[in-house]
Amino acid sequence: MIDVILGLQWGDEGKGKIADYLTPKYDVVARFQGGPNAGHSLEFEGKKFVLNTIPSGIFHKTTLNLIGNGVVIDPVRLGEEIARIQSECPDYKDRLLISQKAHLILPTHRILDAASESAKGDAKIGSTLRGIGPTYRDKIGRSGLRVGDILEADFNNRYAAIVADHLKMIQFLGYTDFNLKEEEDKFFQALEFLKTHQLINSEYFINDCLSQGKKILAEGAQGSMLDVEFGSYPFVTSSNTLTGGVCTGLGVAPKHIGKVYGIFKAYCTRVGSGPFPTELDNDLGEEIRVKGHEFGATTGRKRRTGWLDLVALKYTIMLNGVDELIMMKGDVLNGMENLSVATDYEVNGTISQQVPSNLCSTQVNPIYREFPGWGENLSHLQGFNNMDDSFKNYVHFIENYLEKKIGVISLGPQRDATVIKNA
Ligand code: IMP
Repeated sequence: MIDVILGLQWGDEGKGKIADYLTPKYDVVARFQGGPNAGHSLEFEGKKFVLNTIPSGIFHKTTLNLIGNGVVIDPVRLGEEIARIQSECPDYKDRLLISQKAHLILPTHRILDAASESAKGDAKIGSTLRGIGPTYRDKIGRSGLRVGDILEADFNNRYAAIVADHLKMIQFLGYTDFNLKEEEDKFFQALEFLKTHQLINSEYFINDCLSQGKKILAEGAQGSMLDVEFGSYPFVTSSNTLTGGVCTGLGVAPKHIGKVYGIFKAYCTRVGSGPFPTELDNDLGEEIRVKGHEFGATTGRKRRTGWLDLVALKYTIMLNGVDELIMMKGDVLNGMENLSVATDYEVNGTISQQVPSNLCSTQVNPIYREFPGWGENLSHLQGFNNMDDSFKNYVHFIENYLEKKIGVISLGPQRDATVIKNA
């Protein structure tokens, strides 16, 4: 079976920490979508790492890690990421497998990302500018280059043809702020390094693992509200971030999907543009941002902050078929006098518990329920049953509303700041 772990909000829920925490139970951890727009933070033994493309199981010495076909890979960034983990994982090459069908992010994909964002002006998506959208566009448009192509004799010719097309588009957009030669030098050097890794036919690998009864964890990136189909389109990423994406992003049949873990923060954040009904664009929002260190792990950008949105959460639980919830960063709300969660949306005078199909053009007024805060002393050392009643009420209200149990509560970035709720 393949268990799945994914974010239920707009990304940055803390998937890296939980994937790392769950890894000892699994033989393989696999990424199935996204690319270096992700930033999965892991902390242990006083060390901190941010992973972008490499699965979060890499620090466990017996776990295999697969970058699946649904991922888009920037060889330059992957090389930099490997350099950051190499001293901690000198044996990483034995345990890192890369799908030959994963698409390559070319230097001109990154330039195109910047060119189209700057051409959009105020309507920009707030992309991470890692080339994600243009790479997936070429994949769907059937003109992309894949990891396996770098082993073919005609790679350079195909590369040149695509780059010529990209340059026409970049010129059309009037964008000139780049040095392609410099980027290409780094890119071709990084391709040589990439060739020294295990580049595999990953759909056979993963299905062999399933036949052998191995336990696999699929690690989502971004968040469900950034899914290209069901997220706050067009302010989304360009991949399928939901459970459904596991099947196409790894090459496994739906019947192999096992337990789905859905991760959410005790409040809400979003980075980049787009609708955010429960946003706190005020001092309170700033307080949460500072206490929660809500700055992008990949780009350093300020994350927008807001109250927990149960309407959106119920929607993404439904879309993903979540079995168990994991709540992150409850400690960030420590010391607040009162806090709120959105239980309904008011849309054109009607109360609804559904996310409108066009969240961007619909005026949504969240209806909140207020809760008393729980003081400063919340700690994972207490165990759930001994925690402040106000915190327990908050948790139980969320569970009752969502009709789903929260199995794990995280109260800090370290591996051990984690409470198994029903233990
Ligand atoms: P892109 O995926 O870089 O094209 O960005 C599209 C949108 O998704 C932007 O609003 C980004 O800020 C957001 N986004 C992309 N990756 C992440 C992530 O890992 N965490 C949170 N937001 C993300």
